[in-house]
Amino acid sequence: MAILKILQYPDERLHTVATKVSEVTDEIRTLVQSMAETMYAAPGIGLAATQVDVHQCVIIIDISDTHDLLHVLINPEITAASGKSDYEEGCLSVPGIFEKIRRAERVTVKALNIKGKHFILEADGLLAVCIQHEMDHLIGKIFVEYLSQLKQTRLRKKLTKQQRRVM
Ligand code: NI
Repeated sequence: MAILKILQYPDERLHTVATKVSEVTDEIRTLVQSMAETMYAAPGIGLAATQVDVHQCVIIIDISDTHDLLHVLINPEITAASGKSDYEEGCLSVPGIFEKIRRAERVTVKALNIKGKHFILEADGLLAVCIQHEMDHLIGKIFVEYLSQLKQTRLRKKLTKQQRRVM
């Protein structure tokens, strides 16, 4: 296991579209362990493989306060979605920025678990928001890209300045 480097917006690599995992191997399990370690250390409640520059369809989520309810979704697919929710989202790849984003309130997702077995997860509230946010990473989309072009331009300028100040 290792703490992995998290790509920072507007790094172009965050726009890479991930490929499906063909088989859940020990390599994938090691990746998931390192991703979990990285997410808990950050700390964050979700992480997509894309963010650690691995372009395979793997996301992890843990919205618990106790850090012991890890969801691992490999090749996730949303099979049903309903309702609308506006939640103020943040992202480990866009530090310090929080914006309200509209998403589905409830989703049903099918995915593979760490053992390579199919499962179905029905989620609502924060878990549903987080699943949609992380799945967006897999298609190269960052949550701030739902904002207007003007807001995105301002944001990029602000983030560039922030990066300059770090010694
Ligand atoms: Ni994110």
